[in-house]
Amino acid sequence: MSNFYVTTPIYYVNGAPHIGHAYTTIVADAFARHYRQRGDEVFFLTGTDEHGLKVQRAAEENGMTPQALVDQNSQKFRELFEKLTLTHDRFIRTTDPDHKEAVAEMVRRMKAAGDVYLDTYKGWYSASDEAYYAEDEIEDGRAIESGSAVEWVEEESYFFRLSKYQDALVEWYDSPGNPVRPKARRNEIRAFVAGGLNDLSISRTTFDWGIEFPDDPDHVLYVWVDALTNYISGVGGFDDDGKTGPFWPADLHLIGKDILRFHAVYWPAFLMSAGVELPREVFAHGWWTVEGEKMSKSRGNWIDAAELAEQYPLDLLRYFMLREIPLGSDGNFVQARIAERNNSELADNLGNLVNRTTKMTQGFLGGVLAGYQETRDEQDVELRQTALHARQKVSEFMDAREPHHALDAVMHLARELNQYVQATQPWKANKEGDAERVQQILYHALEGIRWVAVLAAAFMPDSADAILKALGQGEAEHLQFSALEWGGLAGDTRVEIPAVLFEKMEFESDEAEDKAKKSAKKSKKAAKSAKKSTDNDKTGLIEFGEFMNVEIRVGRVLSAERVEGADKLLKLEADVGEESPRTIVAGLAKAFEPEELTDKQVAMVTNLKPAKLFGIKSEAMVLAAKTIDDKLELAFFSDNIKPGTRIS
Ligand code: MSP
Repeated sequence: MSNFYVTTPIYYVNGAPHIGHAYTTIVADAFARHYRQRGDEVFFLTGTDEHGLKVQRAAEENGMTPQALVDQNSQKFRELFEKLTLTHDRFIRTTDPDHKEAVAEMVRRMKAAGDVYLDTYKGWYSASDEAYYAEDEIEDGRAIESGSAVEWVEEESYFFRLSKYQDALVEWYDSPGNPVRPKARRNEIRAFVAGGLNDLSISRTTFDWGIEFPDDPDHVLYVWVDALTNYISGVGGFDDDGKTGPFWPADLHLIGKDILRFHAVYWPAFLMSAGVELPREVFAHGWWTVEGEKMSKSRGNWIDAAELAEQYPLDLLRYFMLREIPLGSDGNFVQARIAERNNSELADNLGNLVNRTTKMTQGFLGGVLAGYQETRDEQDVELRQTALHARQKVSEFMDAREPHHALDAVMHLARELNQYVQATQPWKANKEGDAERVQQILYHALEGIRWVAVLAAAFMPDSADAILKALGQGEAEHLQFSALEWGGLAGDTRVEIPAVLFEKMEFESDEAEDKAKKSAKKSKKAAKSAKKSTDNDKTGLIEFGEFMNVEIRVGRVLSAERVEGADKLLKLEADVGEESPRTIVAGLAKAFEPEELTDKQVAMVTNLKPAKLFGIKSEAMVLAAKTIDDKLELAFFSDNIKPGTRIS
């Protein structure tokens, strides 16, 4: 058993929570629940960032004291997280007294290290980002990166010797644990730091809503020094011997891509200065747009998180957010996509599986399941292996910070279970009076469903709970991965039919409805065609659904080299739109020089089982056609196509 400490950013309380706030916290919650299920001692921290100029100004605009504003808005976040049934272990506020103490200790240590000096800050500041910007980061009175307005500041300020930590930071980025992720973000931040760092102004004198600078009451501490330290104060701060508690260092700081610089440059530098261990991982996720546009109040597409929680069932919201995009990528929050996933993946796949299986158990067995028999039937054996594989994959993908793949592995198991029921036809065995086989089949299906529920619990806790209760598995220990031993459903288990797990979704827009209907039709057709093709396979023709089983994508070749000892093979690294490139071993060496392929976009199959060639694992297959004179040609694509785009 080990510790797992996961954090979200603490949220500014100048306004009410929106979809972005809900997203990070839901992702963190899924990780927290998942590692708890694996038996880890988990601490999940979230909360609110309450000091600084931005909040002070918002209070002024609302005619309130800062304290009254932060009390009111912090409460909105707290209530939202309750409504979302998130499982944080602490909701921290930067106005909490223990937090203020830890912050003072951090600054004292930074001073003691000789890293703080008094000077004058002359430069740009954005209150909206609570960030200082250099001249070359500004255009037309706005910060280029965020688009936020900046103002000129000239005042006495304490500075932190950030420049001193340049080399140590670069070393940290390059260290084997990959502490800053995804890789592309790490490269960005590494280049920024390697380009040179200025010392950082860490105090202000022209407003006072903040933590007093230790030993100088004329200065308030820069809000990011205050805010970042929450990650330490949230788990006990510093004890009398100056030691941090058992959960530090954090295992995972989940943040949005816009605040990477604070978390991957300032924070580790502060910690190095204060002699505190660095976090194990900072992961920057992408941003949601809404129906294709950046969310903003002026555009009128602002999604208030509390309304969102009213509008969709929680599990659907979680499923969509976690399944729709890889963690590091941007996503588009589109009603039609939510409906599509709800109807075809949740309702038609998982919901239908649970419903038909529990109904058959009632109908054929009076709702009582006999114990497990280790049958040798090929389909049974295969199903047991599929379940084991799913369990392993879910853990692996969560460790790799790929919750979308983990969820896919769960849904794959549900699909396989549906197919198992289809193929084993318990209704036939029932008709033939083969009660033993009916028991065996339904046992396998329900035990598989139990596995699906346990594996899905971190992502869709309410549905998992309903399924497990229907299988007589209500206790907390039933959620543990250690409960996933095949045969765990005991003999004489009484099986209920749960209430409908996923209602088919109704839509507000016609377009959305059309799309979802089309997609529902498509998946039905695909299922039908898959069946038809097994019936009609003598024709040699395949149905569209079968074709769609093969994933062909555009991959960008990042590098190519010959494989030593194999004169036909090239080893490629290709970007297929995922966090890290894939390695491919392809028989192209006779037709192409490695340089000819670099930076080219080609078609490749990306869902083949990996194969090992000359000791190298090949993770995709480049598509090529033989020319009449026995050379090879590839399908090339222009740069107008994003790597990873599916070809269909
Ligand atoms: N208070 C700071 C964080 C301090 S952490 C020590 C802050 N707060 S914030 O409220 O502005 O933003 C919090 C998080 O919300 C950030 O990680 C940000 O990336 C995220 N998001 C804001 N809008 C978002 C989307 N549209 N989509 C996804 N996440 C977004 O920054």
